[in-house]
This record gives sequence, structure tokens and C-alpha cells, in this order.
Amino acid sequence: MRMYDIIQKKRDGKELSTEEINFFINGYSKGEIPDYQASALLMAIYLKKMNKRETVDLTNAMVNSGETVDLSLIEGIKVDKHSTGGVGDKVTLALGPMVAACGLPFAKMSGRGLGHTGGTLDKLESIKGLRTEFSREEFISTVNKVKLCICSQTANITPADKKLYALRDVTATVDNISLIASSVMSKKIAAGSNAIVLDVKVGSGAFMKELDDAFLLAEEMVGIGNSVGRETVAIISNMDEPLGYAVGNSIEVIEAINTLQGNGPEDFVELCLTLGSMLLVLGKKAENMNYGREMLVQVIDNGSAYNKLLEFVEAQGGDVNYIRNTELLPKASNKFEILSDCDGYIKSIDAEEIGKCALALGAGRETKESNIDLAAGIILNKKVDDKVNKGDVLAYLLYNDPDKAKGIDTKLKNAIKIGDKNKEKKKLIYGIVDSDGVKRM
Ligand code: URA
Repeated sequence: MRMYDIIQKKRDGKELSTEEINFFINGYSKGEIPDYQASALLMAIYLKKMNKRETVDLTNAMVNSGETVDLSLIEGIKVDKHSTGGVGDKVTLALGPMVAACGLPFAKMSGRGLGHTGGTLDKLESIKGLRTEFSREEFISTVNKVKLCICSQTANITPADKKLYALRDVTATVDNISLIASSVMSKKIAAGSNAIVLDVKVGSGAFMKELDDAFLLAEEMVGIGNSVGRETVAIISNMDEPLGYAVGNSIEVIEAINTLQGNGPEDFVELCLTLGSMLLVLGKKAENMNYGREMLVQVIDNGSAYNKLLEFVEAQGGDVNYIRNTELLPKASNKFEILSDCDGYIKSIDAEEIGKCALALGAGRETKESNIDLAAGIILNKKVDDKVNKGDVLAYLLYNDPDKAKGIDTKLKNAIKIGDKNKEKKKLIYGIVDSDGVKRM
């Protein structure tokens, strides 16, 4: 078999066989196929697309490129959750303690941020001492004891995806449904949970900008999960504006802590309740989503979700004083107010632009090797549909390095559009996709 022939076949819009897909993934993971041939094939896939069978084969080949995790030593049904990437997406930080407080084991491998989207591991590292590197035994015993462990993905899980994702990032081949679906689902399948809830983001801050594409991506991923016996459900959620108010690392930890204490932003709380109730249903802790929602509201109201966060931080070696007193978390030395220069209503807040502004202030990485500033970021003071008066604070810029803040005030102001009241109320949840099909809301 020759890589040249495989590239040519896909370039001409033909279907690749299972053997050809395996040959590509095997050869590329082992370093036998060079980046320039892999890039050419990725671009051919991007332009000519893959069908469902090819996408499932690509996913399986990536799962088989590395180790798979055996979670059978963890008692009960193991559920996992994955977001396709957003701005201000601190869901795992609040949702983990919430579902664990309901008795559901949440064994999660998380990633770091890249580009304008943030990563759970970076956020968690704002808490002094908190470890995210665990041996398999430690991971399993922590989940059995605390019902919650969040760790970094080991190098041996889907190494093919790791290499291909980095290549896609620099060859303009990220936002293709088959490539995203196989990338996400290979990691989820290899991570070993029994059931998976996917948060498929759509909007300016997401990889999928159009609603129909987000539904297609969700259908593809649900199909892949179910084809390998993992019950998979996708929730399609709005990423036109950032989730909640905080976009950064330590400030997102604070927003998650506030949420677990019953003071969370409306959209963030709603998304956590929707995803969490689905997790509880799949994990057989709740008969239906309404009951699951009641359980989650109860663990926030009675303090057990917040106590679970303290237990989790302690179990992962973190200093719980940083949770009890959030003033101890990394704090930026500069705070700059962005003021409104007119009256009106917030029409839109461009999530991608806000993510890019936070990144420029130091909250994210330009490259995988960059250091991040855990205190830097943006705190919005208004959300879409809010009324504003001239002189009101729209947002705060938080930064340590004044050089990085140059020009960000103008960019941020341009990302927040003010005008007449929106005719239609924004939607947070657009629908659910499961093995029974698509339900638009
Ligand atoms: N998240 C992933 O893990 N992979 C993608 O391709 C896109 C989002």
C-alpha cells in the first residue's frame, strides 16, 4: 500500500477502505508517514469529506494507536462529559463536584487550553499544590474514595490524535465534522467510561459556527459512541457569547466556587443542570432529567456539592484554603474598566473575540510551550439582552503585564455590540441528540 495512492483516492472524492485508514494512522503514529503527506490527506478529507463508515474506522484506528483505560475497578456506571471547546467554559469544575455529590463516579481526563479556548487543567492549577498527574492506581482509588478525580491525559491515550490534532491546528483542517468527531470520540472511547455526555458548542466562539453543522457533528459522534457500545448523548449549546461572566483561569475557578455555593450565573447554572441531569440519567442515579435536576439543585442548596469540591481539592493535593478564601488565588495587579459610551441593550458579545482578548492578556497559550498567566483574563459585567446606560462598566480587563494589555480595550469594546433590544430571546440549549434521533428545542 502507498500513501500516495490513498491521498489520490481521497483527492478524487472516493471512499477509503478500512485497511487504507489503518495504514495511514499506523504509519503516521509510528513516524513512517511524513507530515507533508498526512497534511495532504487531511486537506483532501476536509474538502471531499468522509462518510459515516470511514469516520468510524478513523476513530477506531486512533483508539488502537495507544492504550485504553480499564475503569472496571471503579464501582458503578462510569460517565464522562466532553465539551467541543468554548470560551468561559468552566463546566467541569462545577459539574464534577455536583454529580459526585449525587453519588455518581466522575473519572475525567481533561486537557489544557489551546487557541482562544480554555482548558480545565490550567484552571485547576490556580489552586496551590493541586496535582493532575496520577498513576492509574491512584486515579482509580481516588474515584472510588471521593467519586471524583480530574487528571491529565496520559501520553499513551490516542497518540495518533495528539499528533494529528497538532497538524490540523496548523493546516486549517480543524473544523471538519469527521475529523472533530473522530478526534473527540477516540479519546472518550479510550478513556474507558460506560456512558458519554457531549456538550456540542455552536456559535462565534465554537468550532461549529452554524446550527445545522453542530447537529450533524452531534449525530456523527452519538453514532460512533453507540456503535462501540457506549451510550452517548449530545446536548447542543450556545457559544455565541462566553459562558458566565469570567474568562480566564483563577477567575473561572472563583465563578465555579460561587456556583457551588448557590451564586452562579444563570446561563452557566442552567448548562450545568442540563448536562448534569443527563449524566445522572445515564449513570442510573436519576429516573429522568427532571428528577436529576432536583437532585443537583439539592446538593447545591444543602452544601454537599461545595463540600465535595473541598474533598476533591484535598484528595488531589491542593490547598483547600484557596477554596475557602478565594482572595488567595492568583490575582492580577491591574484592573481596567471598559465603559459603555451609549445607552441601549447588549445585542451580542462575540465569544471568539473575547477568548482572543483573554489570550492576549496572558490567560491562554499562543503555542503549546507558552506559559500562561493564571490571574489574567476578562470579567464581563453585562450579558446579551442586558440593558446598559452610557458610562456603565461593560467588562473588566485583568492583567499583570501592561504590554499585553495594549489595544485590548478597543478590541474588547468592538466585540460587545450595543443597540436596540433583540427581537428574539437568546437560546442556551438548542437540542439533544441521542440514539432515538434529534430533538430540536
Ligand atoms: N476537541 C477535540 O478534542 N478535537 C477536535 O478536533 C476539536 C475539539
